[in-house]
Amino acid sequence: MIDHKNTAKKILLQNRYDDYTVPSKNLYKHQWSWDSGWITFGLNLINEEKHSEKELIHLFSYQWSNGLIPSIIFNTNDIDYFPGPNIWEVSDYAGKYTKNNNSTGIVQPPIHSYAVLNTFKITKNINFLKDIFPKLLLWHQYLYNERDIYDEGLVYIRHPWESGMDNSPIWDESLNRIYIDDFKYSKMRVDNKKVNSDERPTDLTYEKYIRLIEIFKECKYNEKDIFQKSELIIQDVLFNVLLQKSNIALREIAQILGYNDIIPIISNWINKTNFGIENKFFHKGFYYDYDLIGNKYIEIKTITGLTPLAIFDNKYNLIQSLKNNFLDISNNNYNIASIDRSLNLFDPINYWRGPAWVNLTWLILSSVKKYDFDLYLKIKNNIIQKIEKIGFYEYFNSNDILHNKSSGIGDNFFSWTASIYLCLISNFEF
Ligand code: GLC
Repeated sequence: MIDHKNTAKKILLQNRYDDYTVPSKNLYKHQWSWDSGWITFGLNLINEEKHSEKELIHLFSYQWSNGLIPSIIFNTNDIDYFPGPNIWEVSDYAGKYTKNNNSTGIVQPPIHSYAVLNTFKITKNINFLKDIFPKLLLWHQYLYNERDIYDEGLVYIRHPWESGMDNSPIWDESLNRIYIDDFKYSKMRVDNKKVNSDERPTDLTYEKYIRLIEIFKECKYNEKDIFQKSELIIQDVLFNVLLQKSNIALREIAQILGYNDIIPIISNWINKTNFGIENKFFHKGFYYDYDLIGNKYIEIKTITGLTPLAIFDNKYNLIQSLKNNFLDISNNNYNIASIDRSLNLFDPINYWRGPAWVNLTWLILSSVKKYDFDLYLKIKNNIIQKIEKIGFYEYFNSNDILHNKSSGIGDNFFSWTASIYLCLISNFEF
């Protein structure tokens, strides 16, 4: 019998460099910010919690002076990735904030304070907590001071990649505002040469991704200027849900450290963000992202709108929506699709436009347990069996119910899939 737990462990160890773990050694050979967060949950279950500390310390050592935590820290010995440091050019254009040249100039969802608290609960290493706390605080301060422009308790993102859900249809309309007359960057792509291009964003989308980076450079990575010039400024549900999960963790960390004067600041964030999520994002019976440039809701049902399950109770309507829109129960299909299955846009194999992702499945699943235990077991057994039969893929064809080999898509030996698999089999809930 194959020991899948051991395979998961091996993947995490094989994807490891001294100070961090890469998402995968084929497509993603660098440190990714929110991947590191997801990865620590698994490391903590296999007695590798010391490495979780290292992982977080390494990421935070690249924090900018304004508090920004870059989405990627590049390994300069082996770039093999597009867009790399020569496109972001942060040492030239963001020299005011960082001396490093090997990071991006965007962020990813703020899962980190929650990851730190979870790690501390195992290591009980108070020095780690003391050292990292000011950095976590600065990170949250940056988000509220620079990205919550109307003081609504809701932080915005300024690039699709900041969401972690790169080509979700949520970003389409904003990207449509960007006019591209010259395909100068997409030929430099490497992702679509390493895995099937049907499972990846199009070249036109890539040109637009890079056009946004050009705007950041024109603005010298100054947030106020970017806000004025950019075509994509969106308040995303998942991003703010993870921020809230982390705010709550950050407050607990402050309590552990006895930093009583800081607690009211964090409590104020928590209250504001609770209010913002409930009063702004909740709209027509679901949670939707908000486009601050178009000044309107982006009324596309996607997985991001289910994630308030992770921070609020009594959300029976979300469980109903999970059943009606994201699963296909009449066909015995318990894969949580990344967008509403009834949309024309739904594509079960294209990245964030339909496939099932293990990390968000786990996030949602952890709460389903409170509402419907039978449903919880069905979703959980399905995803566990899928990984065991098919492999530790980046994402899965959400129409597959037979666990066919070909329904494992994107990259294989993927770190967060290995990490979350360990959480699933250990009954560790998000
Ligand atoms: C893709 C995913 C993003 C992830 C990255 C590395 O870009 O969309 O969420 O962080 O890969 O795994």
